[in-house]
Amino acid sequence: MLNPVLVRDYDRYDPMQREKYESGKPLFEEQYPLNKALCGMSPNMAAELMNYAREKGPDVISLAQGEGCMPTPDFIVDAAAKALKEGKTFYGRPLGLPELREEISDYYKRIYGFSNISPERVFVTTSGSNAMNLTLRAVLNKDDEVVAITPIWKNLLGAVELSDAHVRQVGLTDGPDGWSLDMDKLFAACNEKTKAILVVSPSNPTGWMISAEQIQEILAFARERGIWVISDEVYGRLVYEGTRALSFLDYAQDDDLLMVINSFSKTWAMTGWRLGWIVGPAFMDDKIRHISIYNNLCVAPFTQYAGIVALREGEEFIQNQLNLWRKTRDLLMETLGQHPRVHLSKPESSFYAFFKVDGEPDCIDFCYRLIDEAGVSLAPGITFGDCSKSYIRMSFACSRAKMEKALDRLVKAL
Ligand SMILES: Cc1ncc(COP(=O)(O)O)c(C=O)c1O
Repeated sequence: MLNPVLVRDYDRYDPMQREKYESGKPLFEEQYPLNKALCGMSPNMAAELMNYAREKGPDVISLAQGEGCMPTPDFIVDAAAKALKEGKTFYGRPLGLPELREEISDYYKRIYGFSNISPERVFVTTSGSNAMNLTLRAVLNKDDEVVAITPIWKNLLGAVELSDAHVRQVGLTDGPDGWSLDMDKLFAACNEKTKAILVVSPSNPTGWMISAEQIQEILAFARERGIWVISDEVYGRLVYEGTRALSFLDYAQDDDLLMVINSFSKTWAMTGWRLGWIVGPAFMDDKIRHISIYNNLCVAPFTQYAGIVALREGEEFIQNQLNLWRKTRDLLMETLGQHPRVHLSKPESSFYAFFKVDGEPDCIDFCYRLIDEAGVSLAPGITFGDCSKSYIRMSFACSRAKMEKALDRLVKAL
């Protein structure tokens, strides 16, 4: 049985799927038994729209993607090239090179002031996405529930669905002071099926950041219930005030059921490298090792040598990147932020503007029209959760020239 949401969305936008559907012929997954969780997944309209924009040709300005515009800096690339030349081309250890685990432990000491993140608590993964998948694989059983604070990056919801578990969404509220979390709503959403609470702070797409009190309350609640907290801190260094956002590790005990997900992708401009890590309790070491072995065997060793150098020498690069994005963010706030039809809270972290436009309640239609009529590709809010159907996400991690051109087109279209 096909997911009716999937059919409805393809129905509207994908002529091939519509033809198949309307012709009455069985769909592929109806003819051949595939994984039920896969076939029942909710659609990713952001991916559909990105394909649509690509087909329209190179004149469409894309600010839909979640990555910066800078290539990986040379000092990181050189470290990988050196490792390759030195023959670091063999399988490595399932939880990562000991040197990288050590370096990540030092990084937490240096940047976060934590002396309790021993290398044994660090598990290197092939990306933040993979870190999430390994974590979910370790924690979830069929039909468990994960309570997720939304809007949230769609892939995380997809990862839960693919694990044959269910997401219960708790929407942030968009008010005059920006996005906020109602803790009563969060705890009320937890029931006997809840296996984990999923938090992304700083948030993609809203830039919302959790407070110290909220972290402590969630940890205390999770301890009492014996449920997991999965904290995606991929944007933890991308803040426009200070050096870092708060981490759940600021308040956690070493044996809390807490898995912190991180990645080299955004902070060090390494999206294509696929390198990330988990910090978990030491007792998860064996479990994640097992899953890693069956999942991937290991992370490519030469990328891990590059990761070591990124952590050691990357601070100046991070600041340069943030300085650039601070300027594109300010330009965006001066233009779109002042537009009478636009509701946009100033993002204090990450690199996304998440806004709604008066008179545009359907983000999918609106995004298609912006591609067709303005030549700008953005991501529809519905992808990030049920509470953001009228929102759209725009990345400002781009050059000033690109931002000026995109804003010019958008303002004309509005
Ligand atoms: C919240 C969040 N977590 C994880 C990722 C993915 O990170 P990676 O490239 O390491 O898979 C993204 C990418 O957009 C993200 O927004």
